Amino acid sequence: MHEFTTIRDLRTWLAEARLVGQRIGLVPTMGALHAGHLSLVDEAHHRSDAVVLTIFVNPLQFGPNEDFNRYPRDLGRDVVVARERQVSVVFAPSVETMYAAGSEIRVVPGPTAERLEGAVRPGHFAGVLTVVAKLFHLVEPDVAVFGQKDIQQAVLVRQMVRDLDFPIDVVIAATVREPDGMALSSRNAYLTPEDRARGLGLSTALRAADAAWRSGEQDAGRLVALMGEQIRRFPGLSTDYVAVVDPDRLAPVATAGAGTLLTLAGRVGQIRLLDNHILGRVFG
Ligand code: PAJ
Repeated sequence: MHEFTTIRDLRTWLAEARLVGQRIGLVPTMGALHAGHLSLVDEAHHRSDAVVLTIFVNPLQFGPNEDFNRYPRDLGRDVVVARERQVSVVFAPSVETMYAAGSEIRVVPGPTAERLEGAVRPGHFAGVLTVVAKLFHLVEPDVAVFGQKDIQQAVLVRQMVRDLDFPIDVVIAATVREPDGMALSSRNAYLTPEDRARGLGLSTALRAADAAWRSGEQDAGRLVALMGEQIRRFPGLSTDYVAVVDPDRLAPVATAGAGTLLTLAGRVGQIRLLDNHILGRVFG
């Protein structure tokens, strides 16, 4: 496995890989790798010959009062884990490499980026799409894999690829969960055991709404109310939003059918947690 920090080294290796006809798969991450990230690597392996994993905590997507400085970083461990998973290249650039002095051009998302997470984190998706566009240009992958865990991000990346004509196949991989249903997240590392127990309210609410829908409840308002009731059973867990939306534009719907997205975000203390479920898919 190769570990690169400079764009020149990365591009030199990629040019040789393409020369021998390799299909390139890209998995962008911010590191602190867990089984969710590794499932994206596995998915990329299925669809390519060589997997490039990027590790970059992107300052552009963090708000001024968010956790950029505190975000968990452990490059040494991440490299070991990536090697075990047969990644070909880890690209871990510095902030200066990605954003040279004077860098000021940004990708401007549309209204889909203003809902849900975007309403809570203004500017977040402009930061995400800008770094993803840069990574797409640096790696020029055939396929890029994103997690359903961050569904709005994945939907927006798909929109960007379509609207800005990136010749890249974007794959959205299912959320990896703990046995009790909690979605894996790098930010779970911040949680005390008590807070983790509170955070479990999110997946519990999704599971309850999924069961209600399977029993015939199609009214989106009632599904939202039911998720709210479940979450209130977890004192200390507050919500930023609980929504039933269409999976393309993420706008609220009145009636929930197969493919409709249940999505919610909450906080335990300062820590934000997200989760979602697509109706009709198996939960967990
Ligand atoms: P990060 O939070 O490190 O996540 C990297 C990728 O892993 C994302 O596509 C995310 O959806 C996926 N992922 C996280 N938890 C997962 C889980 N439990 N199951 C499956 N996939 C999961 O998302 C980012 O980084 C950044 O915004 C990035 C795209 C790298 C741009 O900076």
